[in-house]
Amino acid sequence: MANQTKNLAAVLPAAQADFVVEERPIPTPGPNEVLVRNHFIGLNPLDWKRQLTGMFIPSYPAVLGTDLSGVVEAVGSNVSKFKPGDRVLGGADGIVSQKPENAAFQTYTILRSSSTSKLPSSVSLEQAATLTTSIVTSYLMLFHVLGLPKPELKAPPPNATVLVWGGASMTGNLTIQLAKLAGLNVYATASKKNHEHLRSLGASVLFDYNSSTVVEDAVAAAEREGKPIAYVADTIASTATLSSVQDILSKSTATAKVIAHTGPWPEDLPKLDAIDADMVHGEELWYKPDMIQLGSKIFHEDLPTWLESGVIAPPPYRVIEGGVGKIQAALEVLKAGVSNQKVLVAV
Ligand SMILES: NC(=O)c1ccc[n+]([C@@H]2O[C@H](COP(=O)([O-])OP(=O)(O)OC[C@H]3O[C@@H](n4cnc5c(N)ncnc54)[C@H](OP(=O)(O)O)[C@@H]3O)[C@@H](O)[C@H]2O)c1
Repeated sequence: MANQTKNLAAVLPAAQADFVVEERPIPTPGPNEVLVRNHFIGLNPLDWKRQLTGMFIPSYPAVLGTDLSGVVEAVGSNVSKFKPGDRVLGGADGIVSQKPENAAFQTYTILRSSSTSKLPSSVSLEQAATLTTSIVTSYLMLFHVLGLPKPELKAPPPNATVLVWGGASMTGNLTIQLAKLAGLNVYATASKKNHEHLRSLGASVLFDYNSSTVVEDAVAAAEREGKPIAYVADTIASTATLSSVQDILSKSTATAKVIAHTGPWPEDLPKLDAIDADMVHGEELWYKPDMIQLGSKIFHEDLPTWLESGVIAPPPYRVIEGGVGKIQAALEVLKAGVSNQKVLVAV
């Protein structure tokens, strides 16, 4: 493990530059904050997209990164849910606060208490670092954008299927599991090699998105079951995937037809009137008051309960050793394309 007493950070010195390692001060948590000594950093496609395009980076040098797991080092004066020594995961809100101390790509990070979750002993710190963005995004897709009843209500719409397009993405892994937990009939698309894993998470029927008949096959299977596809979580959100899911919904006999998608609607794809479609915005958990409350519920109540009881399983992962100096290389791995795997950097 890297030096414990220094805060080494992967710093982006300028637009489109590579990350360089620099020492930064170890920050002090504010009243509602937690200082975490990071052990694993989880990478997201947004991280390399921000590096490439400068989105959500008003000035340089900048420290990026959202997902982390580690051990609480210190807590603010109002924090009663955590104490030094607790094993936690969390989501660093630097994308909203724009403060470098609220970023994951360093040894020590300041988290909001409301975006920090205590880990049960059954969950390793590696597993924990796979979860933050994917649990938030999948939760919001299903229970906010698609408007499905939350798992605790035990009131799934009868005779309806939710299709998770891109089931083998990290968002897809969690969306399948949460949809199953909410009692929904879940279908998913993925490359064939990932079908068995996604079936074990709760998808009842799997389709290979590379097949030329995937649209017709998905519609026909759901109609045969008497549970037409009404809801789609498109975790990929490309022109091709959104075109396919629009096609599926326009051929479905469901009455409500809704798509939640992870990226902006493509300019070159006309939206069909009969279908509602909305993008999920995970970062809303950090600035919309009702969403901040929802975030506390997810991180303080739901996630610990689901992990403790084993109803939600962390996705597969790959660890890149070597500390924050390996962030650049690890982002290249993610950008080149991964299959059913979270990329982690050991700090
Ligand atoms: N708006 C938000 O709040 C938000 C939050 C989180 C993520 N995102 C965005 O959501 C996207 C997914 O992120 P992630 O971390 O979940 O992705 P990821 O894990 O990196 O996705 C990799 C997976 O994508 C699957 N895939 C690639 N092309 C596909 C296609 N045409 N159809 C179906 N599956 C396909 C692959 O499946 P196979 O291996 O089976 O081929 C692969 O396993 C990214 O663009 C990310 O930036 C947005």
